[in-house]
Amino acid sequence: MEMKAPRGTMDILPPESERWRRVAERGTALFRAYGYREIILPIMEYTEVFARGIGQGTDIVQKEMFTFADKSGRSLTLRPEATAGVARAFVQHHLDKAGLPVKLYYQGPMFRHERPQAGRYRQFRQLGVELIGSPHPSADAEVIMVCNEFFSMLGIETDLVINSVGDGDCRPAYIDALKEYLAVNKASLCKDCRRRAVENPLRVLDCKVESCARVIAGAPGLEAFLCEVCRQHYHEVAELLQAASIPFRRDDRLVRGLDYYTRTVYEFQDPQAGAQNALAAGGRYDKLVEELGGKPMPATGFSIGMERVMLAGPRLEESEDAGVYVVAIGEAARGRAFLAANRLRSAGIRADLDHMQRSPKAQMREADRGGFACSVIVGEDEMAGGYYTLRDMREGGQERVEESGLVETVRQRLELRQAAPGKRGMGEDGR
Ligand code: HAM
Repeated sequence: MEMKAPRGTMDILPPESERWRRVAERGTALFRAYGYREIILPIMEYTEVFARGIGQGTDIVQKEMFTFADKSGRSLTLRPEATAGVARAFVQHHLDKAGLPVKLYYQGPMFRHERPQAGRYRQFRQLGVELIGSPHPSADAEVIMVCNEFFSMLGIETDLVINSVGDGDCRPAYIDALKEYLAVNKASLCKDCRRRAVENPLRVLDCKVESCARVIAGAPGLEAFLCEVCRQHYHEVAELLQAASIPFRRDDRLVRGLDYYTRTVYEFQDPQAGAQNALAAGGRYDKLVEELGGKPMPATGFSIGMERVMLAGPRLEESEDAGVYVVAIGEAARGRAFLAANRLRSAGIRADLDHMQRSPKAQMREADRGGFACSVIVGEDEMAGGYYTLRDMREGGQERVEESGLVETVRQRLELRQAAPGKRGMGEDGR
């Protein structure tokens, strides 16, 4: 039997995995610059965390969770998203005690049993940020700003679409109006939406089926139903975004596939992508912490979908860490080459060497193929004289380096290379 990764999952192999790592590192460095600190959560939770947090009537909870019983029969679920887990941890560890707001970020795999297609997987990675404790529009604007900055830093063009879904005071009237409208148009809805129209009418607005899209286009919008407090909140978020020169479009039928949202919701959409066009999405969720057993606690945040970001082609500079390859000429030199590589590595320099008994020429080819900026050559002369030959793999120049100066000289040469990246090429003698 041919063994393959499960449907909807994928292996990310080098060198692509290095691009992923660099995108994630740039994102998390950005989050830290805005004062967010990392929270590392379990990838499974008791099922009720998601059932209560995300909402019983959502597609995620009804159809998409990987749920199983542990040996005692208790129901566990692989996390379909991380916000509910963050809120659960916030309550469990009384994170509000250290002062508000609590600003957290996370990264890692999420699991949803969806029909796989381009940009939609059953295991996917998210980077996300949650700001817990502030009800103010500046908190919404800050997280949107962080997300916006993430995409501009990577040169990815996005359309930011925002809306307000109101709160417990004004949303019920909207839902009634929507229900009424959907009941009249029931015949044109897909099978799922006929059920949603009764159980959870807001979810109909998410449906991508063509006949439903036509019904949705004529549905009442949320904005007209907002109460004064929600309207003012929405207005202030929009003003702050304008002041920060962040372009956005309002869409008063934008809702999200999770029930915990209150007031602000938004998506960063890829203008070039098809159906799975949300590169990141988020919003305010003022009731979630309370729903999971905590005190009333306003909060807001977003998650970025890494697979979709990588498909959008993030702009990254040339590899920043070119490293050094240690070449042994002759069997006798292998031991010294091995020690030299280890010394360089202990000093934090990326170093590699041959484990395949290759000829010196083939080792040089490896150094070139692996993208190393320099090679350190150990041969008979070097052994006898107690020095190394350091070769610049791009320019081809060589210099003699004393034993005691190896680490420092290599470090300096690598720093110079990083400052002025050039073409790589082997010397004519193959050395
Ligand atoms: P979400 O809209 O369900 O929100 O997911 C956020 C992002 O994760 C999406 O915009 C998309 O880029 C990516 N994503 C979702 N499902 C898949 C999938 N099956 N395959 C690939 N990528 C996917 C949340 O998860 C909320 N927790 C966001 C949030 C944080 N709200 C407040 N704080």
